[in-house]
Amino acid sequence: MAEILKPTEENLRLLREFLLSGEVAGLPTETVYGLGANALDPKACQKVFEIKGRPSNDPLICHLSGFSDIERYSESNPTARILAEAFWPGPLTIVLRKKPIVPDMVTSGLDSVALRSPSHPDFRSLMEGCPFPIAAPSANPFSYISPTRSDHVDANLGEKIAYILDGGPCSLGVESTIIDARDPKRPRILRYGALPVADIENALGQRIEAPVKSAADVHIAPGSLPKHYSPRIPVELRTDPISDQELRESDSQLAYLVLRKPNRVLADNIYWLSDNGNLNEIAKKLYAKLRSIDAGDYKKIVAEEAQELGLGLTINDRLRRASYR
Ligand code: TXA
Ligand code: MG
Repeated sequence: MAEILKPTEENLRLLREFLLSGEVAGLPTETVYGLGANALDPKACQKVFEIKGRPSNDPLICHLSGFSDIERYSESNPTARILAEAFWPGPLTIVLRKKPIVPDMVTSGLDSVALRSPSHPDFRSLMEGCPFPIAAPSANPFSYISPTRSDHVDANLGEKIAYILDGGPCSLGVESTIIDARDPKRPRILRYGALPVADIENALGQRIEAPVKSAADVHIAPGSLPKHYSPRIPVELRTDPISDQELRESDSQLAYLVLRKPNRVLADNIYWLSDNGNLNEIAKKLYAKLRSIDAGDYKKIVAEEAQELGLGLTINDRLRRASYR
């Protein structure tokens, strides 16, 4: 078990020193909990890969205080500037050409680096006194469901890390949106996330290409594997809403995960992600709900997709990867 620390001044000081000494800790962000290390210390970052069981060709995001740090670690451009001004601090990760100061360990040898400035107040307080950016992937074992509470991190990685900073449940609940802005004229989405693509298009005043899918593009978005965010129990995904009748007649060995609360709550194996279909609420609860269902004895999880719009694209992306076998 890790020690779960409340965000007091004393604990934040302890964590800064812990990170500076080359160690790794669980840290809250507004999207999901991260497994943080000093991004300028290759050995510390190597520990992150080991603890997570992550392949070394899947690079880490560097977390910065804000836009003023961007030039220190990357070759910026006007598109990146507009995006950072519009959405930082917040759930947007921007990929840019890296500067030599960023270790190859962080970027898996790529010549680009993924940068984000999180808005979580405790993460920001921690960062304020850190003389380095914090490299942090989501704090889940490779390919399992991401953590949105400190006890999720403890359950999966508590044996391998000494400390987890408890910043409460994540307010957004899904990872940041990743955009490749190396070519300022043709920015590309690499991963759907908590920031809807339409918001980015509005800020830039242009349409943006959808996430890469082909194997040939894997070096651009190394982490976009088809199987990810996956519970132990297999997931069957439905493109159409699950009917009240199916829920009424449901097999008690299966768990049903629907987007909105059914008219009548029927049985213990029926789970829902929102009262009225609100996509923010659905995203916020998705991973925690999948984890609690996965702790049960079900043979299968039957889940329904959201509408392919706004955050619905992100929710469906995660559900599809969770259901991939
Ligand atoms: O919300 C988030 O982004 C969370 C919190 C902790 O900040 N972090 C997160 O990290 O989701 P992770 O490591 O689970 O996912 C980061 C993704 C990976 O798929 C990785 O391949 C991709 O970002 N990535 C990192 N650096 C990249 C780069 N230079 N080019 C393309 N993709 C990159
Ligand atoms: Mg992850």
